[in-house]
Amino acid sequence: MNKVCELLEVEVPIIEGGLAFVGNGLLAAAVSEGGGFGQVGSAGRTVENFEKQILLAAEATAKPFGVNIPISQHTDFTPYIEVIRKHRDLIQAVSLGAGNPKQLIPVIKDMGLKVLVLTSTAFHSAKAESLGADMIICEGYEAGGSNGPSELSTLTLVPQVKKTVSIPVVAAGGIVDGRSMASAMLLGADGVQMGTRFVATKECEAHDNFKDAILKARDDSTEILTRMLKGPIRVLKNDYSKKVQEAEKENPTLENILPMVRGKYNGLAMFDGELSKGFMSCGQVASLIDEVESAEVIVRRMATEAKEILNSPIKI
Ligand SMILES: Cc1cc2nc3c(=O)[nH]c(=O)nc-3n(C[C@H](O)[C@H](O)[C@H](O)COP(=O)(O)O)c2cc1C
Repeated sequence: MNKVCELLEVEVPIIEGGLAFVGNGLLAAAVSEGGGFGQVGSAGRTVENFEKQILLAAEATAKPFGVNIPISQHTDFTPYIEVIRKHRDLIQAVSLGAGNPKQLIPVIKDMGLKVLVLTSTAFHSAKAESLGADMIICEGYEAGGSNGPSELSTLTLVPQVKKTVSIPVVAAGGIVDGRSMASAMLLGADGVQMGTRFVATKECEAHDNFKDAILKARDDSTEILTRMLKGPIRVLKNDYSKKVQEAEKENPTLENILPMVRGKYNGLAMFDGELSKGFMSCGQVASLIDEVESAEVIVRRMATEAKEILNSPIKI
């Protein structure tokens, strides 16, 4: 049996990544209903809303789902961890990203939940494995949202992580359909995680303006912000991202740039639809997304397509 399916108790190894501001409970449930693994996001949500979304997901599906905690994006993650503890019977796994997971791994494992750690290098993957992670989600530089400072592509990262750790490895960044899923599996991945594809879905609570912007995107429609802060983020190019780029050129200091990329401006564009007032996390695959579809349908179709491709002889 596939290792990711075994660990998460799902039918197909397709995970919905944490989605700040727009990773709602009904989306997580739809991904899980499709046979994949949905996750409720915590970034950009109050603790109360995070709890509400977990309950909504549990009401909408009896299948396993998880939650995502991007560590450094919370000034205090403790109340979110307490919500997870309270509802641990509803949750299968917690994914940890954007920070050092050392402190949280034992806490989550003590609750009887699986821990998935997001990484962007083989070194950090080995570290996470030694700290007790159950699975690595290694994310290449193609991905929407926060990227690793090493800027490794998914194509090069996956085989190197696979060579380094013995726990299951999931590829993230640049996966959008059955073809890209099959490619990641050929590189050695045990499964895939997607973010951008799941934003352009019927169940995602992202604003229609953000979804439309994804549908209109071309291959060169994304760019990296805040590279000089050693925390690059991949966003859709717009007037706001241009303003940030200009500020980075003029005065590339933490004090000047950080206030411009606060979560508030991410939420304004992605959730409220005020595109010119903020920035939108988005991956390089956006131009391959032509339709807002049901997340459940996407998961089922991708798994079928990937299986067909992997079972067909490749002509070389
Ligand atoms: C709108 C958006 C918000 C995201 N927010 C988070 C987040 O809160 N936590 C996290 O771990 N990753 C986050 N990510 C990264 C995704 O979980 C996922 O790993 C990434 O999108 C995969 O690359 P792809 O965009 O090419 O599919 C976000 C990505 C997007 C597009």
